[in-house]
Amino acid sequence: MRLHINIDHVATVRNARGTVYPDPVEAALLCIAAGADGITAHLREDRRHIRDADVRALREAVKCTFNLEMAATDEMVNIADEVRPDVVTFVPERRQERTTEGGLDVMAMGDDLRGCTRRLQAKKIRVSLFIAPERVQIAAAHALGVEQIELHTGEYASAFGGAAEQMERDRLQIAATYARSLGLDLAAGHGLTRQNVTAIAAMREIDEVNIGHAVIADALSMSLAGAVIAMRTHLQVARS
Ligand code: PXP
Repeated sequence: MRLHINIDHVATVRNARGTVYPDPVEAALLCIAAGADGITAHLREDRRHIRDADVRALREAVKCTFNLEMAATDEMVNIADEVRPDVVTFVPERRQERTTEGGLDVMAMGDDLRGCTRRLQAKKIRVSLFIAPERVQIAAAHALGVEQIELHTGEYASAFGGAAEQMERDRLQIAATYARSLGLDLAAGHGLTRQNVTAIAAMREIDEVNIGHAVIADALSMSLAGAVIAMRTHLQVARS
């Protein structure tokens, strides 16, 4: 299972003081040296953490998979076209783009999402859609012709340790099985921690996890390399 580390919150800390440190590129290289398979960053429309210069510097430095998350807008697709990440994951940023559970509403976004997807695919950039573990969204993503989907694990993470955990786990498993039956590559992410990632890693259909907040939080006590190694160990134990 691939482990991609989302380094957005390194930029959050930097921007909180208007300094040049900590540097997201340095953090990305530490994650890769510690065993991460790829780096994920989200260029938000408000640039609240990652900025345009970070994206360019990350593309230059990251020789393994660079997954750029973005809204499906012309502005963002123009940036991806120039920077050439390996993967673009379209994520919702505005209320009307998302389902009640926080993933993209693929049907409602219609032609806009289709146009953005086709532009990137024409440049040989893989496209992934961040969606809720719902059959209708998965079917719509497949119909759109994307290579990959990323299942939103936020509801599962919120339910972890409570009465609804098993139900959320089952929803993810059913969604993963369905997505795989359609031939989609499968990632998962949002709210994953060393504790709750075990059940996700045990789902064989899932090829990749994208984890940010918990790894950066763990880095405060374990070092960034230690946090990546600990997460990798949890994935391996769950998969064995
Ligand atoms: N996957 C996607 C599509 C995301 O937008 C994010 C960031 O919210 C993550 C994964 C990582 O989530 P977290 O920081 O909660 O690990």
